[in-house]
Amino acid sequence: MSSDYIAVFDSGVGGVSVLRELIRLMPDERYLYFGDSANAPYGTKTTDEVRRLTFAAAEYLFSRGCKALVVACNTATAAAIRELRAAHPDRIIIGIEPALKVAADHFPGGEIGVMATPVTLREEKFDTLMHRFTDSCTVHKIPAPGLAELIERGETDGEAIEALLRPLLSPYAGKLDALVLGCTHYPFAAAAIQRLLGENTALLDGGAGTARQTKRRLEAEGLLSDGPGELIIENSAGSKEMILLCQRLLRT
Ligand code: DGL
Repeated sequence: MSSDYIAVFDSGVGGVSVLRELIRLMPDERYLYFGDSANAPYGTKTTDEVRRLTFAAAEYLFSRGCKALVVACNTATAAAIRELRAAHPDRIIIGIEPALKVAADHFPGGEIGVMATPVTLREEKFDTLMHRFTDSCTVHKIPAPGLAELIERGETDGEAIEALLRPLLSPYAGKLDALVLGCTHYPFAAAAIQRLLGENTALLDGGAGTARQTKRRLEAEGLLSDGPGELIIENSAGSKEMILLCQRLLRT
């Protein structure tokens, strides 16, 4: 494979919410999307395990040849991006983190929820991020174990999703200015999340910001492509269903 691909990696199908923003912003690029659904979810594993899986996926994608790696997974970014960059100082490696800054900028003094996986919310990286904004707003951590698993099964709305989300979100109904979707799977369940929180809560995610950051880095290195665009989707589960699910989610 030629090295002008942008590799995009997630624990499973969630990174497609970042991929769609990348394609929207840079349609002429060639993308290789790799979802590690065989090992998903990452968000309830130990940090060491997430780090090991992230390194394995990154080494695989580097071996395929790529000009940049987008870690389209908040959990893998929280657990491993620093180590990954230290191990590959010459590589362009972009991560994603919960869009708390965007929320704090839009709602100074506001009530802001951050829904993410247990790993993301317990990592030091998130605490450091959160403490930059706790003077200017109130931040509520909302771990959502189980939600990424449902989305991996193709469930993005309906009874199972609502049953999982209701106990997590009903205490916040009508009370949040913004909810940051700090896991790349969660934007696919946005309709149910919005219903439970009410129309006055803004839902924010880091997909578009990550795409802009990727473009800036490629531009700075003179590595933007002028086409034609291409997309290859691979999944460690090795099943046709996961590829079809990615394609379906990409169209939403
Ligand atoms: N999509 C991942 C994230 O952004 C996590 C899902 C999982 O638990 O594997 O955090």
